[in-house]
Amino acid sequence: MGVILKVESVHKSFMGVSALKGVDLEVEEGQILGIIGPNGAGKTTLFNVITGLIRQDSGRIYLNGEDISGTPIYSRARLGMARTFQNLEIFKDMSVLENVMSGGHLHLDSGLLECILDSKRKRQEEEDLISRAMALLRLFGIEDKADQDAFTLSYGEQRKVEIARAIATRPRVLFLDEPASGMNPRETEELDSLIKRIKEDMQLTIVLIEHDMNLVMDMCEEVVVMFEGSVLTSGSPREVHRDQRVIDAYLGRDVV
Ligand SMILES: Nc1ncnc2c1ncn2[C@@H]1O[C@H](COP(=O)(O)OP(=O)(O)OP(=O)(O)O)[C@@H](O)[C@H]1O
Ligand SMILES: [Mg+2]
Repeated sequence: MGVILKVESVHKSFMGVSALKGVDLEVEEGQILGIIGPNGAGKTTLFNVITGLIRQDSGRIYLNGEDISGTPIYSRARLGMARTFQNLEIFKDMSVLENVMSGGHLHLDSGLLECILDSKRKRQEEEDLISRAMALLRLFGIEDKADQDAFTLSYGEQRKVEIARAIATRPRVLFLDEPASGMNPRETEELDSLIKRIKEDMQLTIVLIEHDMNLVMDMCEEVVVMFEGSVLTSGSPREVHRDQRVIDAYLGRDVV
């Protein structure tokens, strides 16, 4: 197992405000890496830069040794990056099944012509897409909701739909931005075992931003602590949890 993702000296400012001040990060293949830090530390901005939603001002990003610093977002998705969003982004007016299927469309081989002609191959691909999406819904325990509009589901279930859609793209690295936010304790516990299982079944690498320290302590092999746009420290969840600098940085804040 080597380093699958490397972030090197990444800077990003928004109208003069520094959100990332030279962030370095390495993610080992097959690892669940946690990113924690107080509000405004730059965690989501880091995800946005890594996945290509926004462009860094300077610094480089490598996926599996390949420099992807200037690669557009859709190419990064094809290279095996998938993510979920802090503010939950699903297609609310589409059915649960369609939401998850939309993730799988990334790898369809049929071109425009086949779509127009509705060729046999296209129909076969569509059927495969449906059965893969249904398998994911079963895994997430929401297969009975497949035909419902996504907005009719509870918030926790909508989060599951979003994660299932990301997984349907068959990623190598999955980025989860506060997946447990808005979930009740039972849903959070369920999510915990689900993510671990998916990681094993699909040999995924996972990078997880999370404020729920129980989840981080239980799931992550390594934790990176961000503070004011920089990496404050990193280590095992245990090491980080008792690090005085981390405790000081969070004093009076909402984490740890
Ligand atoms: N698109 C943007 N335009 C302007 N400023 C931004 C933008 N995105 C992020 N910022 C700023 O960058 C800083 C880092 O924000 P970011 O959302 O990355 O923090 P975070 O660690 O994810 O915080 P939270 O825990 O609240 O989600 C903040 O000061 C934020 O206001
Ligand atoms: Mg954030």
